[in-house]
Amino acid sequence: MASSQVSRLRSTRLNPSLIFGAALIGFMVLVAVIGPSLVNEKLARVGAVEPNLPPSAEYTFGTDSQGREVFTTLILAVPPTLRIGLIAGVISVILGLVLGLIAGFFGGWADWVIRTFSDVLMAVPALAFMILIVARMQRPDITVVAVVVGFLTWPGTARGIRSMVLSIRERSYTAIARANGESEVEVLFREIMPNLLPIMLASFIGAVTMGIYTVMGLEVLGLGSNVIPSLGMMIFWSQRFSAVLRGMYWWWGPPIIAIALIFIGLYFLSFGLDRFINPAIPVRRSRPRQPRNRSPVSVSAAPNAALEVKNLSVIYETPAGVVKAVDDVSFTLGPGERMGLIGESGSGKTTMATAIMRLSRPPAYIVGGQVLLGGQDLLNLPDRELSRLRLKEIALMPQAAMNSLNPVVRIGAQFEDAIATHLGRLPRKQVDDMITQALTKVGLKREMARRFPHQLSGGMKQRVAMAIATLLHPKVIIADEPTSALDVVVQQQVMHTLGRLQEELGAAVLLIGHDMGLITQFADSVGVLYAGKLVERGNVQEVLDNPLHPYTRMLIDSLPTLDGKRALVGIPGLPPELLKLPAGCAFHPRCPFAMDRCRVETPAAQSPLAGRQVACHLYPGRDGLPPLEVQIDTGSQAALAVDKQAGA
Ligand SMILES: Nc1ncnc2c1ncn2[C@@H]1O[C@H](COP(=O)(O)OP(=O)(O)OP(=O)(O)O)[C@@H](O)[C@H]1O
Ligand code: SF4
Ligand SMILES: [Mg+2]
Repeated sequence: MASSQVSRLRSTRLNPSLIFGAALIGFMVLVAVIGPSLVNEKLARVGAVEPNLPPSAEYTFGTDSQGREVFTTLILAVPPTLRIGLIAGVISVILGLVLGLIAGFFGGWADWVIRTFSDVLMAVPALAFMILIVARMQRPDITVVAVVVGFLTWPGTARGIRSMVLSIRERSYTAIARANGESEVEVLFREIMPNLLPIMLASFIGAVTMGIYTVMGLEVLGLGSNVIPSLGMMIFWSQRFSAVLRGMYWWWGPPIIAIALIFIGLYFLSFGLDRFINPAIPVRRSRPRQPRNRSPVSVSAAPNAALEVKNLSVIYETPAGVVKAVDDVSFTLGPGERMGLIGESGSGKTTMATAIMRLSRPPAYIVGGQVLLGGQDLLNLPDRELSRLRLKEIALMPQAAMNSLNPVVRIGAQFEDAIATHLGRLPRKQVDDMITQALTKVGLKREMARRFPHQLSGGMKQRVAMAIATLLHPKVIIADEPTSALDVVVQQQVMHTLGRLQEELGAAVLLIGHDMGLITQFADSVGVLYAGKLVERGNVQEVLDNPLHPYTRMLIDSLPTLDGKRALVGIPGLPPELLKLPAGCAFHPRCPFAMDRCRVETPAAQSPLAGRQVACHLYPGRDGLPPLEVQIDTGSQAALAVDKQAGA
């Protein structure tokens, strides 16, 4: 197993299903391993004890009609039942893995042969086939049956493995691994195999269950061994002697309960293992309670705001703890305003955009705040009303929007879906006109509607995403890094298109990104996000001329100037880990103005200048930052230091 997989296993929490399933199966395995040595085997032989006795101090589970003690017979019946499952599971998974890997990884004729053979095998009715085999045996041997079940169930595993290999083989990280020099065998073992672990475990448990189930089925029909006790044969004999009609619950009940415990244990184990191994499946505890809003600051009262975000807080529940990715953020977006939201990677921009649309999914939880759109709080609207508002009133171009287009649906059909969802069935001509108009607005020809996404360039796909987002003329558009992964020329074209659309629709735009230059060129106002907090907000020109927060100042100083006269200044240190945020102001380890107070007290948002918002202990009491001295080093980079004379 690759080391990344091991660390993933370690870092993922145990979950109740896994614990319960493992405990049940562990108990049955314990019974199977040590049980036989604790009972007197002779009591399970026919005629060993007086028949038909109910439970008593002497015979805990009573005796059956053949003169066997039920408890001893039960204990001796558990190991063969589990052994059958194990044999079937191991054979099925080994065959399925090897053949699935060959089919998926090498393809060609090997794939064709394996696929055809497995299709044929899957058409075989397993139980009928087993009855035929067992009926031909002179003394039914359940081990042979288990082996045959293993041989019959591998096609399911092989198919699952094959399709996963086919999909993983084409993913970008395998391409990167190849580009980094990994051979095909290394790609197979390092990149592909770790991803197959969940399906292998699920298939193993499935085959174990199938093995036990098939053998039980045969035994209940009387096609089992009369020599070795088994749960199925116990049920068969209790049936033959009409134990149910005769009220001998102590005979038919225990084997049924034992088999039910094994199946329940296997089910929970499989379910829990999936959650344990797969980090994409959120592990949920109780839903966090909505805390009371804390911050009293709202920079502008917003009688006719397009969008007002008030004290929005979003957390992620991770195995390592709770991450506060958006912390008490408030801002107002006026009608037709272009606001830029800037922040380093991981500062919470996408989390915030998703929460504004109320699209957060576990492990993300919105734990406080309001998102007011036209006087309605999106966070409290019924689902149906919210769906009606999305795209029509507020639209999101998600991060990497161009990759969010459905690869197997033509562009035109993706527009049609959006139209049908919001406007119902419209005449064909009207729909076509709407699509043509939307495509033309973003500079694309009508013919694009007939293409699939992979037939478009990155810039074209981004424009399509923009056309879909603006199709129904929303009043608010949130664009999450619409130009990332595009070259500079295409970036400019996309930004120009977004600007033109915004003007035509008169919509308010929240443009998210980490390119200060690009954002300030486009936006009227800017907000700066640091470690989930909005640390500064104001008019773009005012912020550029007079940044109030030290982080904003450093972001601006890191921009190159056209004349190249100013030295480029890097921001020292690294963005903080949200799980281990420093106490007080999260920026203090990187801040040249940090004071003792900053290390203990979180700064609240305040408005030292009209229309400006900043969260920093340097305010109130000043209307701008103290001077900073730029210390040029030998390279083009420089570090900032406070001019101690004039400093804070
Ligand atoms: N599914 C998740 N589970 C746990 N933590 C998450 C999850 N998604 C995001 N986070 C954490 O939330 C924080 C904010 O992530 P977010 O994607 O909002 O950042 P961002 O500012 O959009 O970054 P980027 O500029 O790279 O897109 C990060 O620290 C990230 O590690
Ligand atoms: S609160 Fe302190 S550490 Fe934080 S930005 Fe302001 S001066 Fe720097
Ligand atoms: Mg993002």
